[in-house]
Amino acid sequence: MKVLLTGSCGYIGSHTLVELLDRGYEVVGIDNFSNSKREVIDNIKKITGKDFVFYEGDVCDKTILEKIFNENKIDIVIHFAGYKAVGESTLKPLMYYRNNIDSTLSLLEVMDEYNCHNFIFSSSATVYGKPHTLPIKENFPLSTTNPYGTTKLTIEYILKDLYKSNNDWNIVILRYFNPVGAHESGLIGEEPQGIPNNLMPYIVRVASGELEQLSIFGNDYNTPDGTGVRDYIHVVDLAKGHIKALEKLEKENSGIYIYNLGTGVGYSVLDMVKAFEESTGKKVNYKIVERRAGDIATCYSDPQKAKNELHWEATKTLNDMCKDSW
Ligand code: NAD
Ligand code: UD1
Repeated sequence: MKVLLTGSCGYIGSHTLVELLDRGYEVVGIDNFSNSKREVIDNIKKITGKDFVFYEGDVCDKTILEKIFNENKIDIVIHFAGYKAVGESTLKPLMYYRNNIDSTLSLLEVMDEYNCHNFIFSSSATVYGKPHTLPIKENFPLSTTNPYGTTKLTIEYILKDLYKSNNDWNIVILRYFNPVGAHESGLIGEEPQGIPNNLMPYIVRVASGELEQLSIFGNDYNTPDGTGVRDYIHVVDLAKGHIKALEKLEKENSGIYIYNLGTGVGYSVLDMVKAFEESTGKKVNYKIVERRAGDIATCYSDPQKAKNELHWEATKTLNDMCKDSW
């Protein structure tokens, strides 16, 4: 079984690549290093002791995709490549629409040309917009609050239309909640450029002394301690969810399946600070500031559908998430 991973050197792609190689899958990766580093390739080989084929290039470019499909008999594609920063997407919407949507269209067109119809897509809990009730189930109404989210939801619609037009397609859409942590080797992980936007990378930089203090965006939400609540999931659990999605596609001939990948448990910002301090022994200085525009109070998944149908469940603890992030 040969699997093509786009965005293979990124945060979630690299962890999924490790899990695939560990299970004996043959892997082909493509990345243009717009948000990752070349060293990731050697580090993946160090962790697994295994090799994989890699192409440097842009997934929007059909010429390189055709070269990949000509040179390799690809059975399944997992599509991670894309831009993911919410704030940046509001400033540069065209760049987000161009990259996220174009890369997906090019990929789907070339897959169809080469008669490969097994596709796993990285979607996000952001497609639920502002949920009215919790926990969030896959059949909840969909809406978005920023261009990044709109690219994800648009791609979901494209995939649904594609399946309707041709039942040869066999598609899994995975909606991730908040991935954190890193591989326990410490050789791969999340390394945002500049000042991080997301909570866990920010906490790590404060604990390491690179940043002075964490700004907690609001403590007047309707949550147990007033700070925002999210469903943080260890990236290795998330990577394993892709293996289960792949096994699902191997079993099915056709269909479009949607799953939440989360733990089903919500932690507040203050819970995260406390857990991080306890598991690493490092102090995290913080101050409470205004709410961040666009944030919601609480967001956590109902992961039951993935449990029932993919036989997947997150197993790592909050302590693992904090230790491995550190
Ligand atoms: P990441 O930025 O670490 O990885 C994406 C990789 O894709 C990077 O290595 C980047 O260089 C590459 N890339 C981007 N555009 C490309 C292109 N046109 N051609 C080739 N390579 C390209 O992001 P991640 O956290 O690993 O996320 C992977 C996917 O999961 C993304 O689609 C993201 O939107 C989605 N997602 C991420 C999160 C999260 O919190 N990390 C949450 C929900 C969904
Ligand atoms: C953000 C994105 C979401 C994306 C996800 C993973 C927004 C509005 N949403 O989700 O689309 O899928 O990242 O990439 O950006 N917090 C602080 N101080 C900080 C950083 C965060 O208090 O410096 C709080 C936030 O208010 C929130 C929680 O920590 O309550 C988590 O924030 P973050 O890690 O940015 O993730 P989300 O906002 O859930």
